[in-house]
Amino acid sequence: MPIAPSYSVRRIVRPRVARPLLILFLLLNAVQVLYIHNALSRPEPSIETIQPPQRIYIASIHWNNEAILREYWNDAVVALVDVLGPRNVFVSILESGSWDNSKDALRDLDYRLEKQGVLRNITVSDTTHKDEMEKNHNAQGWIQTARGQKELRRIPYLARLRNESLRHLVQLLEKGETFDKVLFLNDVVFTTQDVLKLLNTNNGEYAAACSLDYARPPHYYDTFALRDHDGYEHVMQTWPYFRSGTSRNAMKRHSPVPVSSCWNGIVSMPAAVFGPPTNLHFRGVSDSLAKYHVEGSECCLIHADNPLSASLGVYINPRVRVGYNGPAYDSTHPKGSWVSLWQILIGLWQNRFRRWFTTPSLKELFKKRAVRRWSLEERGNHENGGFCLINEMQVLVENGWAHV
Ligand SMILES: *[C@@H]1O[C@H](CO)[C@@H](O)[C@H](O)[C@H]1NC(C)=O
Ligand SMILES: *[C@@H]1O[C@H](CO)[C@@H](O)[C@H](O)[C@H]1NC(C)=O
Repeated sequence: MPIAPSYSVRRIVRPRVARPLLILFLLLNAVQVLYIHNALSRPEPSIETIQPPQRIYIASIHWNNEAILREYWNDAVVALVDVLGPRNVFVSILESGSWDNSKDALRDLDYRLEKQGVLRNITVSDTTHKDEMEKNHNAQGWIQTARGQKELRRIPYLARLRNESLRHLVQLLEKGETFDKVLFLNDVVFTTQDVLKLLNTNNGEYAAACSLDYARPPHYYDTFALRDHDGYEHVMQTWPYFRSGTSRNAMKRHSPVPVSSCWNGIVSMPAAVFGPPTNLHFRGVSDSLAKYHVEGSECCLIHADNPLSASLGVYINPRVRVGYNGPAYDSTHPKGSWVSLWQILIGLWQNRFRRWFTTPSLKELFKKRAVRRWSLEERGNHENGGFCLINEMQVLVENGWAHV
C-alpha cells in the first residue's frame, strides 16, 4: 500500500508536469537574460556638452599616482576643461608625500592648465606619512591600537586632505561666487564623455552621482564606500552587485541606481551644499567610537551628512565606468553590452542564492552593539552614518596604511 501512491505520484510528476515546468523555467530565464542584455546594449547618445554651461569645481587628492597621471589623467583633465570651457572651471589639486614623481607630473599639468587659462590651485607638499605620524599623538584622529601604541587613524587624515581640496571652493562661495557642481576625480582612466554623462545623471538632479570603478574587472573596486538603497554592502562584487531590489532593478534597466552611498572613481555633487549655511565637509567617525574597532569611510559619511541625500538621492550611473588602469577601462567598454549573456545569467542566480542563503544581520548586530555602547558612554554621542560602518580599524603607516 505505501508504495503504490508514491509510485503514481512520481509517474504524474515526472513526464507530464516536470518537463513543461523545466521548459517554462528555461524559457523564463532566457527571456529575462535577453531582455536585460538588450537594455545593456542600447547605444548611448553622445553628449556634446552640458546645457546651459555650468561652473564646475574639480577636486582631487594624489599620492604616488605618477604613472596614471602621465599616461591618462593629465590629458583627460585638459580635454575635459576644453569642453567645459576653461572659464567655467576651477581646478583644485592636492598632492602630498609621494615618493614617485607625481609632483613633476602635476607641475606639467599646471603648465598646461596655465596655457588654457584655467583658474586653479595645485599644491604639492613634502609632508610624508612619516611626518604625519610624528605629529602630536594627543591630537584628534589618533587612537590607541592593539599593537600598544597611539597611531594616526587613516580616515580622519584623508578627511582632512579632502577638506583641504575644497578650501578654495568654500572661500569662493563665501565671496558670493557660484558653482553648480563639484567633480571629484580619483586617479582613474576616464574620458570627457564619461564626465558629461555623469554630470547629466538624472538630468543633473542628484545629491551625488558616481561612476562604477574597476581595478580588476569584472570586480568593482571601492567596496568601502558603496552601500545599496537599503544601506547594505554589496552581496557580490560583480554584476548585479546589490542586495536591495531597488538598486538591483535599476542595474538591470541600466538606469541610474539609487544607493545610500557611493564613491566609485568619479563623483559629482551640487557645489552650494559645501558653503554656508550647510558647510558640508568630510569627516571620520569620532575617535571614541573608533575605539570599538569601528570605522566608516569619509566618502560614505559625507552622504550620510548631506541634507540633500534624502531629497535628491544618491546614484550610481552604470553607464559611466572608469578604471584604475588602461586594461580595466577597456575591458569594461566592449562593443555592445558591457555584461555578457553568460555573466547576466550567472550574475542573476548567484545574486539570488546569496540573498537567500546569506544575511547581513551578524555584521549589523556587531555595529549596532558598538554604537549603542558608545552612545551610552557620553551624552551627545550620536552617529547618523550607521550604514557606513564596518568592523575595522585603519591606521597610517610609512608606506601606506594598515588594518589593525
Ligand atoms: C594654493 O592654496 C594654498 C592653500 O590655501 C595656498 O597656500 C597657496 O598660496 C595657493 N597657491 C596659489 C598659487 O594660489
Ligand atoms: C573638515 O572641514 C571642516 C570645515 O572646514 C572642519 O571644521 C573640520 O575640522 C575638517 N575635518 C577634518 C577631519 O579635518
